[in-house]
Amino acid sequence: MFHPKGPRFMELVRQGLSSVEEGYDLLAPKFDYTPFRTPELVLKASLAQLGPPGSVGSALDVCCGTGAAMRHLRPLCRERVVGVDLSQGMLDEARRRLAKAPGTAALEFVRGDALALPWHEEFDLVTSYGAFGHIPEEDEPRLVENVHRVLKPGGRFVFATGDEPSRRSAGYWMARAFNAAMRVRNALWSPPFVMYYLTFLLPRARALLEAGGFHVEARCEALPEPYSRYELWTVTATRR
Ligand SMILES: C[S@@+](CC[C@H](N)C(=O)[O-])C[C@H]1O[C@@H](n2cnc3c(N)ncnc32)[C@H](O)[C@@H]1O
Repeated sequence: MFHPKGPRFMELVRQGLSSVEEGYDLLAPKFDYTPFRTPELVLKASLAQLGPPGSVGSALDVCCGTGAAMRHLRPLCRERVVGVDLSQGMLDEARRRLAKAPGTAALEFVRGDALALPWHEEFDLVTSYGAFGHIPEEDEPRLVENVHRVLKPGGRFVFATGDEPSRRSAGYWMARAFNAAMRVRNALWSPPFVMYYLTFLLPRARALLEAGGFHVEARCEALPEPYSRYELWTVTATRR
């Protein structure tokens, strides 16, 4: 499925019947061959505006997975780039894949929860890509609190998200149907697999971040083919 080196259908089913942590442990060796890894052009569009190489002290990538964003963050940073993720399997894969990544900043791989980050005012930059679907809507304020706490005053939280889709679009109803199926799955099967669409979209993310002590700027990026029909918003939230 997806790519010859990607997971087979039954492997995805097994992943979907596991917890988030176990599911990603299982998927880790093949994750980079799935569409769940954030595409390079999204990372480039989002991170290009951050400044020239060496212009940032230290960065934290939340839900780093196999290190897709950390590869771009390393040349940008002078001191350290930390990736935090629930899945040790994904972190091991990130460490392996980034062994020769360009840049001199120290790389650290920390097993931890985005909702309980173990730092206080340590980072100039926090990023997160492709993972907000794993944060239940009711926990989004906690995510904002955590990012606020780990950033130094004046530090930036940079991520990509989408705008609220039209209720007349097929995509909106497909996402709602997926979410409903996931709720049924989680009501009937343990452990839960937390994965929902339409989360932390621009209007709600902006409101939560502003209420949580950030100044928010959002930019709509024009994407090349085959992604030109998607609207990608790059958000920079600066800790006040
Ligand atoms: C779809 S992958 C995205 C990985 C990477 N950021 C990328 O863009 O390719 C989602 C990642 O989020 C991690 N994750 C999910 N919930 C998490 C949580 N509460 N705290 C930390 N990591 C989490 C998963 O283990 C997985 O590695």
